[in-house]
Amino acid sequence: MSSRYYITTPIYYVTDAPHIGHLYTTVAADIMAHYHRMLGQEVWFLTGTDEHGQKIQKKAKETGETPQGLADRVVQRYLEAWKVYGIEYSDFIRTTEERHKKVVQHFIKKLMDSGDVYLGSYEGLYCIPCEAYCTETQATEGKCPDCHRPVEKLREESYFFKMSKYVAPLLKHIETHPDFILPESRKNEVLGFLKGDVKDISISRTTIDWGIPMPADPKATKNHKVYVWFDALTNYISALGPLDKNPKYEQFWPEAIHVVGKDILRFHAVYWPTFLMALGLPLPKQIIAHGWLTDSNRKISKSLGNAIDPIALSKEVGVDAMRFFLFREFVFGQDGEYTKEIMYQRINADLANDFGNCINRVTNMIPKYMGSNAIDVDSYLKESSELKTVALEAVPLAQKEMETFGFQRALENIWKLVSGVNRYVENNAPWTLAKSTDPKDKQKLEQVLIHCHESLRIATLFLTPFIPSSAKTAMKFLGTEWDLSHPAPLKTQLTWGAGPKAVTVTKSSPLFPRLEIPKE
Ligand code: MSP
Repeated sequence: MSSRYYITTPIYYVTDAPHIGHLYTTVAADIMAHYHRMLGQEVWFLTGTDEHGQKIQKKAKETGETPQGLADRVVQRYLEAWKVYGIEYSDFIRTTEERHKKVVQHFIKKLMDSGDVYLGSYEGLYCIPCEAYCTETQATEGKCPDCHRPVEKLREESYFFKMSKYVAPLLKHIETHPDFILPESRKNEVLGFLKGDVKDISISRTTIDWGIPMPADPKATKNHKVYVWFDALTNYISALGPLDKNPKYEQFWPEAIHVVGKDILRFHAVYWPTFLMALGLPLPKQIIAHGWLTDSNRKISKSLGNAIDPIALSKEVGVDAMRFFLFREFVFGQDGEYTKEIMYQRINADLANDFGNCINRVTNMIPKYMGSNAIDVDSYLKESSELKTVALEAVPLAQKEMETFGFQRALENIWKLVSGVNRYVENNAPWTLAKSTDPKDKQKLEQVLIHCHESLRIATLFLTPFIPSSAKTAMKFLGTEWDLSHPAPLKTQLTWGAGPKAVTVTKSSPLFPRLEIPKE
């Protein structure tokens, strides 16, 4: 494992406030950033906003703002949402910032000088919402193959990027780096595309004003702006600062992991790597594509009119409950149908009934049956029990899943431990053992309680990146905050018996009260 970790989200269009789909990508990256910090790695976590291009220009016209005014207003909504959700990014980049524009222009100039960007002309069908051209055959009935909205005919003098030149090297890279694109099914889509007829792509626009100017060129007859996807993708490097002798770039760029939705995988897994190859720069380490949250099997999105406001959801069910639900319910690489009913059921079942209830029961019983002084847990933990067996088996599996963004299966494994505690309590009935006068029963009672406590300590520690604030509170009741102050708690404290030797447990208040499912 490298000592550094660099994770990015896509940068979001500032046409509108964030919705649950944007929340999904951002929380995924935040969980991974948090998890890797808790593994003791030095983490850089980048997010931001995509503020140029036709889409923004068009929207600003509709709202009667300048494009910059629109961006300045909408970016606040992102900052606000990420604050509510406790997103701990290291940097937030906006593509209208000088530091970004400089790098974009530097890259384009370099490609013009090397001949990989050349002047030509282009006629094609263009989808403004997707900011992408498509062919006549792709555009059935004049509709975009991706979003099914009408395409427009555009003819432009244009700069082209010699993408075709880099197809073979990219195929080779994908072959020799099997984890470059995950999951496997999405990788195959990219391979399918690369094995088709890949053409050079248009890299500039003359039809928009709102963009970064192409470098001056006496051959050009028009005023060209840099294609918004070239502009946007560059953020992953421009945010690290200037390339020359920049330790942040040198340390973090080789570790880059891009988290993206499946709709923008091609831009990240084909366009971006070929741009980088042409620039002579190393490729990111990995690109992870997730599925969509859907509503009646349609992508949830502002333009389809079914967007859901993340801040309203946080008020309704709570920040941690939302963070947990999104990654316990849906398999990361696949689409997932979102309904309120599924959300409430999941939160009530897993957080109120299982996790919250376990914490409550165990932190209630320990002071009641063992007193409220510090308890030396060491000798109890040496004993064997079914919970100890589950912990030793399921936790490494959960850790393994996290290596490939397998959030859902990771949590499933941790839940073997959490629901195991409830079952263990039922089967061993501490309240009956407590009534016995036999010293063996007293010994058994204490062992049962401490094994439950240890299981919950481990589960809570693992859950910290998912439900940061509730986990911290739970650790306090368990008397094991000590774990969290450790420099690499997920590396050193997650095994059975690795926590503090003595704990002082206090009765908890409910962590996740049961939610009433609203009648709509
Ligand atoms: N600006 C580009 C990205 C440039 S990255 C160099 C963009 N922006 S976006 O705001 O339209 O979308 C950003 C991300 O949100 C994408 O990864 C997209 O997949 C994700 N989501 C938008 N709606 C979504 C769902 N309904 N479900 C899950 N994620 C979805 O594309």
